[in-house]
Amino acid sequence: MAKAKKSAFFCQNCGHEESKWLGQCPVCKEWNTFVEETVVPVKGGDTLTREAASPVDIHDIPTEGDERTRTNIAEMDRVLGGGLVAGSLILIGGDPGIGKSTLLLQVCQKLAAQGQQVLYISGEESLKQIKLRANRMGKFSGDLKLLSETNLDVIRSVLEKERPQVAVIDSIQTMYNEDIASAPGSVSQVRESTNVLLQLAKGLGITFFIVGHVTKEGAVAGPRVLEHMVDTVLYFEGDRHAAYRILRSAKNRFGSTNEIGVFEMQREGLVEVKNPSEYMLSGKPENASGSVVACAIEGTRPMLMEIQALVCKTSFTMPRRTAAGIDYNRVNLLMAVLEKRLGIPLSSYDAYVNIAGGIRVDEPAADLGIVMALVSSYRNKPLPEDMIAFGEVGLSGEVRAVTLPEQRVAEAKKLGFHTCVIPEVCKKSVGNVDGIKIIGVQNVNQAVDL
Ligand SMILES: Nc1ncnc2c1ncn2[C@@H]1O[C@H](COP(=O)(O)OP(=O)(O)OP(=O)(O)O)[C@@H](O)[C@H]1O
Ligand SMILES: [Mg+2]
Repeated sequence: MAKAKKSAFFCQNCGHEESKWLGQCPVCKEWNTFVEETVVPVKGGDTLTREAASPVDIHDIPTEGDERTRTNIAEMDRVLGGGLVAGSLILIGGDPGIGKSTLLLQVCQKLAAQGQQVLYISGEESLKQIKLRANRMGKFSGDLKLLSETNLDVIRSVLEKERPQVAVIDSIQTMYNEDIASAPGSVSQVRESTNVLLQLAKGLGITFFIVGHVTKEGAVAGPRVLEHMVDTVLYFEGDRHAAYRILRSAKNRFGSTNEIGVFEMQREGLVEVKNPSEYMLSGKPENASGSVVACAIEGTRPMLMEIQALVCKTSFTMPRRTAAGIDYNRVNLLMAVLEKRLGIPLSSYDAYVNIAGGIRVDEPAADLGIVMALVSSYRNKPLPEDMIAFGEVGLSGEVRAVTLPEQRVAEAKKLGFHTCVIPEVCKKSVGNVDGIKIIGVQNVNQAVDL
C-alpha cells in the first residue's frame, strides 16, 4: 500500500510552516515565498545519539581531552571564543564572493598542519577549482582530504569511514537528502541536512564548519531553525569594494558574541589584520573639516575609526540625509539635538555622515564624534589632527558616560594621538595619562566650543 505522504507549505525566506498556501508570510511579511514540500516522517532516534538514554551524574561526565583546538588563526580563534570545541557545528554566513570558502580552506590548511585530520566537502566547486585556490595559498601539509559531493547519504558514509576530526560543508544549500522530494536549498532539505550533520557531530565528535548562503536581508537563508540547531553562527562581512573583511559572531554556545576578527583579502588569501585601528585610519585626510576620529569598542577591543560628515546648503524642500556605517535614525536624532541645543539651522542643510573604511558602528560612544564632525563641517573648520572624541549624547545635549574609557584612551595613545575629548564623568576613571591631554565635556556646547 502506498504510504500517505504528508505535505506542508514552507516560507522559503524564514522557514515558517503553514498547512495551506498563502500569498504573504505572516511571520516575515515576504510575498510569494510559500512552496509545497513533502514532510518526511521523523525516523526513530539514531543509534549514535542514544548513548545518554539514562541520566548521568554531572561529576561522572569526563571532560579531559575536550579542551579547545586552536586554529592558529588568531582572529578566528578570538571569534570562536578560544578555539574549536570538538563535536560542535559552526555556521558561516556571508554575501556571495566575500571569501567564505577561502577562509575555511585556510582554516583547514592550519588545522591539517597541526596534525588534525580534515575533510573539505564542496558541493559548489570541483576538486580542480579548490586546488587552484589552494595553489594561491601556499604550502599545504598534513592530512587534508577533499571531496566534491552533494548527496548527504554518500557524505554520511564517507564521514563514518574516514572519521575526520574536522569537516567543512560548503555549502548547506547544495546538499540534498534522497528521502526528501523538494529541491536542494529548500527549507526541508536544509533542515534535514543539518539534522544529519548534527547527529554525526555529536555521535562521532566531528567538528563541522557549515557554509550558509544569506538572503538579501543578510540573514542565513533557509529556516531560522538552522541558527537554533548549530552551536555557533558566524557572519563574514565586508564592503565588496574594500579589501578588508570582518568575521562577527551572532551566536556562540562556547564563547562571547561580541568579538570580531578582521582580515584583509589578498592574492594569497585572507591575511589577519593585527591592528585594525591603524588600518581604519589609513588614508585619513589632513586638515579637512568634518573629519573626527572616534573610538568604539568591538568585543573587548577598542577600535579607532574616522567619522566624516559633510553639511551643505540644501536645494530641496526636504533636506537630504544619508548615513553610511551608522544608524540613520541616530544621525537624525543627533542633528535634532544640535538644532535645538546649539541653534544650528540644520533643517535647511543636507547632511551626509560616513564611517570611513566601510565599517559599521552601533555603539552610542560614537555620538560625540558625529556631533563634532557635523559642527566642524557646518563651520568649515578642521579639528586638530591629534584629537579623538568619544561619548554618548543624550536628548538634552548632555554628554554621558561610556564603558571602558581607559582602554579607549590607551588605544588613542598607542596610535599617537595627544588629545582626548571624553565625557566629564569618565575623567576620574581615566585619571592622568602620560602625554595625553584629557578634556572632559559635560554637554555638546562645551564640546563644540573647543
Ligand atoms: N587572484 C586573486 N587575488 C585576489 N583576490 C582574489 C583572487 N582570487 C579570488 N580572490 C578573492 O576571493 C573572493 C572569492 O572568495 P571565495 O570563493 O572564498 O568566496 P565565497 O564566499 O566562498 O563565495 P561563494 O558564496 O560564491 O561560494 C573574490 O571575491 C576575490 O575577492
Ligand atoms: Mg564558496
